[in-house]
Amino acid sequence: MKVSWPVEIVGTGAYLPARVITNAELAQRVDTSNEWIVQRTGIRERRQIAPGEATLALATHASRAALADAHVTPAEIDLIIVATATPEQPLPATACLLQAALGCRWVPAYDLAAACSGFVYAFTQAAQSLINDLAQTVLVVGAECLTTVTDPLDRQTCILFGDAAGAAVLRRCADPQRGVMALCLGADGGRGKLIYIPAGGSREPASLRSVNERLHFMRMQGREVYKFAVTQMQAIIEQTCADAGVSVDEVALLIPHQSNLRIIESACERAGVPMEKVAVNIDRFGNTSSASVAVALDEARRTERIKRGDLVLLVAFGAGLTWGSTLLRL
Ligand code: UT7
Repeated sequence: MKVSWPVEIVGTGAYLPARVITNAELAQRVDTSNEWIVQRTGIRERRQIAPGEATLALATHASRAALADAHVTPAEIDLIIVATATPEQPLPATACLLQAALGCRWVPAYDLAAACSGFVYAFTQAAQSLINDLAQTVLVVGAECLTTVTDPLDRQTCILFGDAAGAAVLRRCADPQRGVMALCLGADGGRGKLIYIPAGGSREPASLRSVNERLHFMRMQGREVYKFAVTQMQAIIEQTCADAGVSVDEVALLIPHQSNLRIIESACERAGVPMEKVAVNIDRFGNTSSASVAVALDEARRTERIKRGDLVLLVAFGAGLTWGSTLLRL
């Protein structure tokens, strides 16, 4: 969908917990190897929260970094959206806890559940709020503690996921040439069972049985998700550029959800995006769901891989199934 939303990213931040889980460490726990994980996923290590740490702490660190980068005080924030599939607790929203932790005013704060597409969905909502004058300064966060919902004995998932948070501060900008130029958001609930957590909701509240049967851990049909991801990522990269009236070659940096290096490489090859123009950090952080695009965006800004005026494409997909892309002129 073509849009013309003049907004700008005025600051970004990220936080990765200190504890590093190497492939070698996982190979001591489940039947896998460093070679298999690197070859099939590109992941070498991922991060895990320390005892006592959880999603709010990660979100708070990342948000403080983003506010400092933006030279914005907590009092100036007037909307907070936290994308997460692993909230601090079921109630209240992590965004409300974050509002209090940062010392923001009593501004609207809510969580958004779109799994790995969460940050891209949240970014779109933030931009809409800005262009509709519902807010002047918005804090958008992707924060996850996926290691808390990953079965440590499931070799298919425990090798993939890690913990992290990323944040961005958005404001309206005066230049109509800058901001969101096109986007594509969607979902196919019919394929919800491809990645899901059976228990912990109203269908299957926590019980002795649900714990004993490991129903609070994520279940994933990896192959099916893989096929969907490659096709859908290629499709939305092409569609979003076409809608904006730009060629894929004009994109300075593609920031994809860090799901699996092979998924990223296949989708980019099919869409004609060379890997030098693709942000990749999955080798160091694994798949951090809604945090992954936010963390990679922060890294790209801090390393000056992207600069004002560049075309940047955010692309993600995940449980739901959901997908999303946003093409921005910085
Ligand atoms: O954020 C979105 C969420 N999820 C994703 O993006 C995940 C998408 N899917 C994937 O990344 C990949 O499907 C996986 C990395 C999960 C699996 O890789 P694959 O190349 O699709 O492997 P596969 O599932 O087809 O399994 C191939 C073989 C199987 O053995 P057999 O049946 O051929 O004997 C698996 O049992 O590899 C085996 N296997 C493993 N072997 C060593 C599966 N996991 C592992 C493992 N170590 N960790």
